[in-house]
Amino acid sequence: MAFSFSFSYLVLVLVICLGRSIAQEDTTHEGCIHMPIIHLTNTQYFEKRAVSLSLTNRSDIAYYAQLNIGNPAQPVFVQLDTGSFELWVNPQCANLDVNDARFCQTVGQYDTTQSSTSVSLGTSKTLRYGIGSANISYFTDDIALPGSTTTLRDVQFGVATSTGEEFSGIMGIGYGQGIATRYRNFVDELSAQNATKVKAFTVALGNKDDQEGIIVFGGVDTSRFSGTLARLPIIPAAQSPDQVPRYWVNMQSLSLTPPSGKTRSYSNSSIPVFLDTGATMTLLPADLAQAVAKDFGSTGADANGFYEVSCDLENVNGTLDFAFDGTTIRVPYREIIRYVAGSPPTCFLGISPSDSFTLLGDTFMRSAYAVFDLDNNLIWMTQAANCGSTPAALSSMSVMSTLTGACNVNRAVTSGDTGSTSGTGEAASSSGTASTRPHYALHARCDSTRRDLATTLAAVLLNI
Ligand SMILES: *[C@@H]1O[C@H](CO)[C@@H](O)[C@H](O)[C@H]1NC(C)=O
Ligand SMILES: *[C@@H]1O[C@H](CO)[C@@H](O)[C@H](O)[C@H]1NC(C)=O
Ligand SMILES: *[C@@H]1O[C@H](CO)[C@@H](O)[C@H](O)[C@H]1NC(C)=O
Ligand SMILES: *[C@@H]1O[C@H](CO)[C@@H](O)[C@H](O)[C@H]1NC(C)=O
Ligand SMILES: *[C@@H]1O[C@H](CO)[C@@H](O)[C@H](O)[C@H]1NC(C)=O
Repeated sequence: MAFSFSFSYLVLVLVICLGRSIAQEDTTHEGCIHMPIIHLTNTQYFEKRAVSLSLTNRSDIAYYAQLNIGNPAQPVFVQLDTGSFELWVNPQCANLDVNDARFCQTVGQYDTTQSSTSVSLGTSKTLRYGIGSANISYFTDDIALPGSTTTLRDVQFGVATSTGEEFSGIMGIGYGQGIATRYRNFVDELSAQNATKVKAFTVALGNKDDQEGIIVFGGVDTSRFSGTLARLPIIPAAQSPDQVPRYWVNMQSLSLTPPSGKTRSYSNSSIPVFLDTGATMTLLPADLAQAVAKDFGSTGADANGFYEVSCDLENVNGTLDFAFDGTTIRVPYREIIRYVAGSPPTCFLGISPSDSFTLLGDTFMRSAYAVFDLDNNLIWMTQAANCGSTPAALSSMSVMSTLTGACNVNRAVTSGDTGSTSGTGEAASSSGTASTRPHYALHARCDSTRRDLATTLAAVLLNI
């Protein structure tokens, strides 16, 4: 069955850091790189006709960062992916479906012969993903982050010689040198070249109502959560289900809180899962996915592994609750349901069955605030909130256990009990928390320039 996703689920990210105010505060390095994430459904930035474009397969996923590669700089968009490790550019657009091909043509290509600093390393590799693959040759070149004062020198990355089912390059922000790669990957370079003081980054994708999120390399944004963060050890590769060093953590249980407030727990839901911003869907073992889908009224998965559900559920006041040691991320029905425009519109559960991979994709990540701490092999996580934007650099990860969010929200979205195991519940009800924020650990705010952002995005989208 031919099946198109709405382009409205595509989310774009641009790298922006306000150079001027930072230069005034700190003439060396700001210590953080801040990338606003603008959802494509945000009509403030996107015109309706751009939003209604329909793409297939992988096209509806995630968000993109702009990199300026080489000298002179060549702008290229890449998908940010916590589920992989390497950066590569130049997807092959010719053999893609027509809509994917159009998107692919807008992400930009890097011409090695047009950069005075491009160096071929003479080595190559094949990269395989959940969907798609790429044959790449390694190069080094300078990579500048637009809107930021940061230029990374001689960064190693792949230039694709042929690709299958890929319509943009990918920036893997998983583990790098000595763990998953034999060279310094992008995250490694940020810290090696002192663009960040810690090897850590924060992801807050933003929910459908927020319409915008943020990624901060080397820092946090305390305006995107309340209370403190749960400390979740990353499962070492050797003990993980696929033996690959990914951001695996233990999920303690999965439960459903319907509007009645009568929470029901799913059996066999104490499992390792990895956090994957590069996946649209959340993938759970077939029995578990099936049990959840049944509660959403689905009779079974279609040929593509999607559970169709009633679009009315989008407006129902319930949550799917992912419990971890110290925090429970309550994903509202509205966030776990994927809406596909059409007449009539169709809706799908944002969970697909998979017995080989269990991962929490964007349908989960939109409701979470997560700090990936590669210095200590930890994920710091809690429910996402939104009370502004205050991205700031971290000079040390030692502050994480006491770092307190500035938001002071009642984050209960259902009538379910709020006295859960959540580590944030207690702090969320305490109005004094914001003022006790440990400022000493945070410095050099990296604000963004919204106007520049909108202009650049428009330039990308009008071409589609
Ligand atoms: C995804 O792409 C592949 C290869 O281009 C194609 O065979 C498949 O039918 C597509 N899937 C959907 C759901 O369109
Ligand atoms: C990568 O290269 C191999 C060997 O030349 C080839 O068989 C394969 O089809 C290529 N993959 C893609 C995605 O082009
Ligand atoms: C980064 O900082 C360290 C410690 O201050 C210094 O030794 C190193 O040379 C710096 N590296 C770069 C690329 O600036
Ligand atoms: C839970 O897992 C066990 C062992 O794999 C299996 O026998 C049982 O049927 C599962 N329960 C459910 C409700 O899926
Ligand atoms: C959802 O439930 C919460 C908690 O009981 C309540 O405060 C809120 O008003 C409800 N929202 C709707 C739309 O019914």
